[in-house]
Amino acid sequence: QKHLTTKEIGKNIIHFNSIDSTNSYAKGIADKTPSGTLIISEEQLSGRGRLGREWESPKGDGIWMTLILKPKFPPSEGGKLTQIAAASVWQGINKVLGLKSLIKWPNDIVINGKKVCGILTEMSAELNQLHYLIVGIGINVNNEAFHNTIADKATSLFLEKGEKINRRALLCEILNAFELLYDSFVKEGTLKESLNICRNNSAILGKEVIIQQGANQAKAKAVDITEEGLLEVLTEEGKKTEILTGEVSIRGE
Ligand code: ATP
Ligand code: BTN
Repeated sequence: QKHLTTKEIGKNIIHFNSIDSTNSYAKGIADKTPSGTLIISEEQLSGRGRLGREWESPKGDGIWMTLILKPKFPPSEGGKLTQIAAASVWQGINKVLGLKSLIKWPNDIVINGKKVCGILTEMSAELNQLHYLIVGIGINVNNEAFHNTIADKATSLFLEKGEKINRRALLCEILNAFELLYDSFVKEGTLKESLNICRNNSAILGKEVIIQQGANQAKAKAVDITEEGLLEVLTEEGKKTEILTGEVSIRGE
């Protein structure tokens, strides 16, 4: 399916040849832009990753995009959008390329242990009112190589599949999937379908992981992703706890 079949998601598209960051741009216009608006750019001059990292976004190689959403739910639900986005990208990659990627909770998609997509969800809220959510998605699509510093951690769909990928077809598939998963979340209030995908295609469930929180590190076993979209782990002391997406990095053993 090469067409967009959505009613809201991506109906309004703002396309750039070059921009600093689609997330930053989205923040600037979100208040006066309808929900579902998509910002997409051929390149980003200062693409941002989680925890203040830089996101390499070379011209024409990737899908560097941000969705602006204005759902009517409390700010505490915001993080769940990352799970919805991850499930949508997983579906898109699976349908268009026939590749089985893995979702590395909370916000990465990996193939053969290397990162092919990262998601950065940000929000603006005041008191208990959500103004908007912005869901930034960066997918390495046709990149032929990466800078030295990330070459051993990053990959692209082209490198994994061995052929150039039609970005438009992939984009449509992801947006179509996103709208279905997002709608069911907004209507039913549960992450059900997204969680199925995130659980069944997880890079970390059942495995030993290292949880890095600021300067602290702890070993644990990843056991489940909860209905709230949190990671449930079993600590070395045998205690079950839930990890918030915020400031953690998960590393495989
Ligand atoms: P996270 O905390 O988001 O899971 P990480 O440290 O686990 O990140 P890794 O997969 O270990 O991530 O390493 C990838 C590193 O390279 C990250 O710091 C990521 O932000 C950075 N990076 C920058 N640009 C890209 C890109 N285009 N593709 C993949 N990784 C990138
Ligand atoms: C991460 O893995 O740390 C998240 C990476 C998110 C990158 C995307 S690319 C489009 C959007 N604009 C940005 O500046 N960042 C996100």
